[in-house]
Amino acid sequence: MSKILVTGGAGFIGANFVHYWRREYPADTIVVLDALTYAGNPASLKAVKSHKNFHFVHGNILDQPLVAGLLREYELDTIVHFAAESHVDRSIHGPDAFIETNIVGTHSMLKAAKEVWLSGSGREHRFHHVSTDEVYGSLRPDDPPFVETTAYAPNSPYSASKASSDHLVRSYHHTYGLQITTSNCSNNYGPYQFPEKLIPLVIVNILAGKSLPVYGDGQNIRDWLYVDDHCRGIDLVLKRGEAGGVYNIGGNNEWTNIDIVRQVCGLMDECFVRDEALKARFPDAPQVRGRKAESLITHVKDRPGHDRRYAIDAAKCRAELGYVPLESFETGIRRTITWMLDNEPWWRAVMDGSYRDWLDRNYGG
Ligand code: NAD
Ligand code: TYD
Repeated sequence: MSKILVTGGAGFIGANFVHYWRREYPADTIVVLDALTYAGNPASLKAVKSHKNFHFVHGNILDQPLVAGLLREYELDTIVHFAAESHVDRSIHGPDAFIETNIVGTHSMLKAAKEVWLSGSGREHRFHHVSTDEVYGSLRPDDPPFVETTAYAPNSPYSASKASSDHLVRSYHHTYGLQITTSNCSNNYGPYQFPEKLIPLVIVNILAGKSLPVYGDGQNIRDWLYVDDHCRGIDLVLKRGEAGGVYNIGGNNEWTNIDIVRQVCGLMDECFVRDEALKARFPDAPQVRGRKAESLITHVKDRPGHDRRYAIDAAKCRAELGYVPLESFETGIRRTITWMLDNEPWWRAVMDGSYRDWLDRNYGG
């Protein structure tokens, strides 16, 4: 049995991880630590919040005494560290928060873990650091996918801050013997993703009849993985990965942005054919006027320094951990669309800002 601290558990992947863990290991203690920045949403944890072994703590990873106190109070033996500033576009406009949270915050987490886990008699422990394939930089069309030994070449303030945190995590293993693992994963999609990221943005904009902004020529390539497959990959790294190890997690699923947007458009058109009631629920959707979702596609100015291609080679995970993604892109996207249609109050509250009411109610804003 584990007692696990999940940082950033109210964010997209963190919340999915909490649900995954609760499902797989119902007896385990889970403590979520989340600062509830714009990306954190307590509503994403509604289904687990009354569970007796679940605890939500509103706090910052920069608060080393708080983190050390939680490790001691709940006798936690595992940290899965998701908390981060995660949106490339935001990092371009305001890099400081990325340096603060992703670099200084991760260092603060490491110091707290070292303080509690490496003092005295020591305790069996694991610090898992969740990172991204973006640390490896951009691939040319014919380059082989990223492997764990690919040299780091981050290009955005986001990826540079994640790269820096990866190095700090590594150093705490080599220097102090902290039992760490790191995973570098490709782009995730699925339930609870903040609708400023590409796939949920396209879905909600279609429902609202708004344009679908495709940066530049739309030929940038990302390697997409259904979020639950990422969570399973982390689980395998925790269970079977060797201390100090780095693991690339991905689905071997490269798509250009324009093809993704077209795919989502086609599946949304199908939904409106299958379910007439959607027309009444979403009167601004193009399908209501007999138009296809694709008619909303608009090419807009490219992102500065936009990485052309990411792709993950997950052979090490497959060979050493037995990792295979369960969801195909087709089934994963269908699940995601169904989830968005079934959970309209969740994304409406994000869009109109009312998801922030939790902070007002609990802390007066
Ligand atoms: P997200 O932005 O949806 O969630 C981040 C969470 O961290 C939010 O709940 C936020 O409130 C919390 N947080 C931010 N700063 C904090 C702080 N100082 N203290 C405590 N909590 C804080 O991010 P995500 O997409 O779920 O990504 C989670 C992790 O996975 C990140 O480390 C990211 O780099 C990594 N990752 C993401 C992807 C992806 O496609 N989204 C892919 C690979 C790796
Ligand atoms: P994003 O979801 O922001 O993830 P990342 O930049 O971390 O890979 O974007 C995925 C891709 O989609 C990326 O190449 C940028 C592009 N994109 C658009 O074309 N339009 C958009 O509105 C957004 C948010 C992203």
